[in-house]
Amino acid sequence: MAATFAQKLGALSYILFFSAGFWCWLLFFALLYFGGTVSRGILAVYCAYIWFGPGRLPPMTGSRKPFLRGLWVWRKCAEYCPMTLVKTAELDPEKTYVLGFHPHGIISMSAFITFATEALNVSKTFPGIRFHMLTLVQNFYIPFIRDFVLAHGMCDCARSTCLRLLKGRKGSAIVLCVGGAREALLAQPNHFEIVLGKRLGFVRIAVRTGSALVPVLSFGENNMFQVSRPLEDTFTAKLQRNLLKLVGLGFPIFHGTGIMLSSIGMLPYQGAIHVVVGAPIEVPKFEGDIKSGDGKRAVKEAHDRYVAALRGLWDAHKGRYAMERKGTLKIVDLPPQLLQH
Ligand SMILES: *[C@@H]1O[C@H](CO)[C@@H](O)[C@H](O)[C@H]1NC(C)=O
Repeated sequence: MAATFAQKLGALSYILFFSAGFWCWLLFFALLYFGGTVSRGILAVYCAYIWFGPGRLPPMTGSRKPFLRGLWVWRKCAEYCPMTLVKTAELDPEKTYVLGFHPHGIISMSAFITFATEALNVSKTFPGIRFHMLTLVQNFYIPFIRDFVLAHGMCDCARSTCLRLLKGRKGSAIVLCVGGAREALLAQPNHFEIVLGKRLGFVRIAVRTGSALVPVLSFGENNMFQVSRPLEDTFTAKLQRNLLKLVGLGFPIFHGTGIMLSSIGMLPYQGAIHVVVGAPIEVPKFEGDIKSGDGKRAVKEAHDRYVAALRGLWDAHKGRYAMERKGTLKIVDLPPQLLQH
């Protein structure tokens, strides 16, 4: 079946998005090689600013550009799947929030489209809430990529940044793909395996700032790509395990569909994605030492409530949005094939 015009526009939007890094580097080297003294000078000052100067830490405010968040490209990316935002409860703009997004999938595309753009009207759906999607700090050292992510309200996921974003800033909400690189290795279509058992960092942030925890389940994120899961004790599994330990990245082996949506390629497969935002779980603020005694208990209790709420969210929506599911929601710690024996 030939791809329709709308599908081709969607595919083109993904190509533009995936090549954003390439365009940024192209601009950088073009300025460097073809630029005159002035443009090279400006480039040098800019690089010094982002690598060694005050630009090293993402600025807090004033970096969001509604124009970029509202780009036509993002709407086309969302329509291609299509993606839908499902709201189950109100978020109060007088409070602060820590959203846990699951599953990570290969690239967390639906997290980006939902919270870093306005393609699904997230700001209209939750009035008064400023969402900050968080990503790896490495992105903020790459020329122009840094400005691209900042303009979308994104920040790095260091603990200090999380605390700065939430402390005394009503209506602020951070979005974390809690399972990270490990969960990316589990991204099997129609499977919901979530790395959460020992993930306490995001709960500690909520406890320290008194922010409510909000579970978010993306039904369909894992269906965007076909992932081959290496068997236990194969060379690939060992390589993935070592890379995970060494550089903290998952390197899943995956493919999508081709440009004409008929062959194998790197574009996501089409398939409905529903991003379901759960009800907030109030977390009392704890001022003392978070890693011992009462602090530890407070974190444990909040984590337990979060896990229960996430399971509840799954049970309430699986019948509607995960009809093709294979198995149930599994909370694991490490992909089984990557466990050390
Ligand atoms: C977002 O809001 C606009 C204007 O209210 C509307 O036309 C559009 O359909 C909405 N998009 C989604 C995905 O809900």
